[in-house]
Amino acid sequence: METSFGIAIMAAGKGTRLKSRRPKVLHEIGGQALLLHVIAAARTIAPAAKIFCIVGHEAASVRTAVEHTGIQFVHQPEQRGTGHALQMLEQHLRLTGTTPPENLLVLSGDVPLIKPETLAALTAFHLRKSAAMTILTAVPPNPFGYGRVNRLYAGEAEVAGIVEQKDLPKDDPGAPEINSGIYCFKTSALFANLGRLSDKNASRELYLTDIAGLLVAEGQRVVALQAESVDEVLGANTISEMMHLDAAMRLASAQRLMASGVTIFRPDTCVIDATVTVAADTTIEPYVQLLGNTSIGTNCRIRSYSVLQNSTLGANVLVRNGCILDEAKVADGAVLGPYAHLRPGSDIGESAHVGNFVETKKVRLGKGSKANHLTYLGDAVIGAGTNIGAGVITCNYDGVHKHQTTIGDNVFLGSDSTLVAPITVGDGAFIAAASCITEDVPAEALALGRTRQITKPGWVTARKAAKA
Ligand code: UD1
Ligand code: CA
Repeated sequence: METSFGIAIMAAGKGTRLKSRRPKVLHEIGGQALLLHVIAAARTIAPAAKIFCIVGHEAASVRTAVEHTGIQFVHQPEQRGTGHALQMLEQHLRLTGTTPPENLLVLSGDVPLIKPETLAALTAFHLRKSAAMTILTAVPPNPFGYGRVNRLYAGEAEVAGIVEQKDLPKDDPGAPEINSGIYCFKTSALFANLGRLSDKNASRELYLTDIAGLLVAEGQRVVALQAESVDEVLGANTISEMMHLDAAMRLASAQRLMASGVTIFRPDTCVIDATVTVAADTTIEPYVQLLGNTSIGTNCRIRSYSVLQNSTLGANVLVRNGCILDEAKVADGAVLGPYAHLRPGSDIGESAHVGNFVETKKVRLGKGSKANHLTYLGDAVIGAGTNIGAGVITCNYDGVHKHQTTIGDNVFLGSDSTLVAPITVGDGAFIAAASCITEDVPAEALALGRTRQITKPGWVTARKAAKA
């Protein structure tokens, strides 16, 4: 990627207004940390080697959460404001002997909905105007709380300066145009003025926004570009603001799926991550959650209250109400639930059934096999056409180790049988109901593992007579 831009992402702040212990930039919307959304947008402009994330508050946990993206980190030990954050970047580049990029795109870790197209438009506008600073702005219905951008002349790109909400004179509503917290700078012009910032303001912080006024006073060009949509520059300073952004993202996911032929009843009640894919002609009922890398084939039906995470479904799968799937794979035509729990490593074969109150984990269930009621299947490989009666349990854990169960094709496991692993049951075997199976069962054999029933005729009558 050939670009004159480096990128700074400011992510060191405490997020005091959240009243949460978790750093603000690690709060999630649309199933992903705010900062990861911002990094994804940044990556469309510059490679990871040219992206510098400024971290401070809870720096270690922030780094850990995003370092897989390969970006660079700059430490801001004390959070003395957004201007101070950029001072730390300047110092970092100087101390590490890194040549500063010609232009710097500055992003805020808490403005997560910013679109790649908007960043592309902003950087192009900055270059076209040969500006020292270009500010991305918006005019939202309620500008309260944001820094306000004063244009030099109405209708012109030139800016006079930015005033923070807290620093507006009393009874002054301020300009309606807000600063998004996203800017482009000619890096030399920015770095030459960072040392001139003062903290004589309402927040006692070094404001990056004051650079606008300083540049204008020097006769340098500061311009503003209004974003096409207000929504993408809204900040996330409170949980309520975040949930507003989250709802907007989830609805966008639902709309994307509906536009591609998926039916979603009451999309406002569904929680769908941006990473989810669903093929056309599948139906999603109200109150369904589709999370992470979930992918669903065509002509499936996902009934209400099911939660699918990182799971893959083939075509024609019916997921009845209240199922929970986590890292599960389900082949074409399978039927799940109601209330089935498929844990990681569940691999359900074509047209297989996993019914009510059945829990599976690390299980391969073969084609057409059925476990319809009240069963636990863990660490097992089960063949095709096998019938698993109500209440069957694989006893896979001896308190120390997990053990494997292997069951062949066309096996009949009678209700309430327990299979003490490690154990193998051959093809076509028949296990009598309520058996406790501790020894391997060969193919086509009948295995019975229960005490013989004793029946005493007339016993109750005799007891009653004795009591009288
Ligand atoms: C900032 C802008 C405001 C703009 C708004 C848009 C300033 C002074 N004000 O206000 O004009 O309308 O964003 O959302 O910049 N951060 C650091 N180090 C610090 C302080 C903050 O890295 O010392 C980071 C924060 O983690 C955050 C970003 O900078 O990601 C913005 O800081 P925040 O305190 O949220 O600024 P706002 O008050 O929202
Ligand atoms: Ca903010």
